[in-house]
Amino acid sequence: MKFPKLSSPAVLSPMSGVTDIAFREMAKKYGAGMTYTEFVSSTAITRGSGRSLRMIQTSSIEKPVAVQLYGNNVEEVIEAARFVEEKFDVIDVNCGCPVWKVIKTGAGSAMLNNPELIGKFVNKLASAVNKPVTVKIRIGIDDKRINAVEVAKIVEENGGAAIAIHGRTQKQGYSGKANWEIIKQVKEKVNIPVIGNGDVFTPEIFKERLEYSGVDAIMIARGALGNPFVFNQINNYLKKGDYEKKSGVEQLFEYLELIRKYHIPFAAIKTRAPSFTKGIVGGAEIRTSINKCTSFEELITSLKGVWSF
Ligand SMILES: Cc1cc2nc3c(=O)[nH]c(=O)nc-3n(C[C@H](O)[C@H](O)[C@H](O)COP(=O)(O)O)c2cc1C
Repeated sequence: MKFPKLSSPAVLSPMSGVTDIAFREMAKKYGAGMTYTEFVSSTAITRGSGRSLRMIQTSSIEKPVAVQLYGNNVEEVIEAARFVEEKFDVIDVNCGCPVWKVIKTGAGSAMLNNPELIGKFVNKLASAVNKPVTVKIRIGIDDKRINAVEVAKIVEENGGAAIAIHGRTQKQGYSGKANWEIIKQVKEKVNIPVIGNGDVFTPEIFKERLEYSGVDAIMIARGALGNPFVFNQINNYLKKGDYEKKSGVEQLFEYLELIRKYHIPFAAIKTRAPSFTKGIVGGAEIRTSINKCTSFEELITSLKGVWSF
């Protein structure tokens, strides 16, 4: 199955605890070429966990949208993928997460230890579902074991529709810089679409990395935190060479409306809302008031009190 054609090369990266339906709808509204759910455990989906089912809610405007699954057991990942595939345009497998809780089970970036296994995984999954299967990787386990090109070729040979690469190793976590040279090498070596990722925070960097690496698209994670409007900025910069800014608080109010629309539990708001207020005048005061609130209505009233617009 072919990877969908994107309206923009700027894609919202999967972010656990961030890319809920409300955030994804905003990113899409502001021009993201594609959106990803946060990673969802295949085990949790097959067990019908309410929290995981909430993570895979999708918005009607959100097309194409990918679900990102993780798991160490291909049969279970297939079962989860079959359960969700009707709602999604792409099934993505997480082979990049460096978190111990995930890698100790052999899932996430631990799979980079065994490219042949990734190949078998993709092969079985791609033949079991009716949607394109993609993989998101890191460039390798550590400096001595950089194998992104090898993994990408194996993914392609086994029916993967695209590959996304965060230009860091598992060992690096978030330290150092994303290695776009390796991402460029992957793009040169495979024919399936390649999505580059890592340290793209501004429209200027986006354009520079796109041109340097020749990738088909770039995923943005931290650059969209608190600023899903970044997709509008990137698209405008690519088209006309300039872009506008939109205040974090204005974006926060929009986000809260969507949170209410999609009945996201209030507890989640407390961890998600503060990113919109980073670096703005009065941000600390707003974060304190977010912390004190116990209901959605209380939060809106309190925000309107500290921020009049
Ligand atoms: C809060 C947060 C949560 C993340 N959760 C996921 C996830 O669920 N799945 C995934 O593949 N990557 C996840 N990532 C990694 C990002 O998708 C991305 O690969 C990484 O942050 C590098 O991109 P950036 O430099 O644009 O932030 C997460 C990153 C952040 C900051």
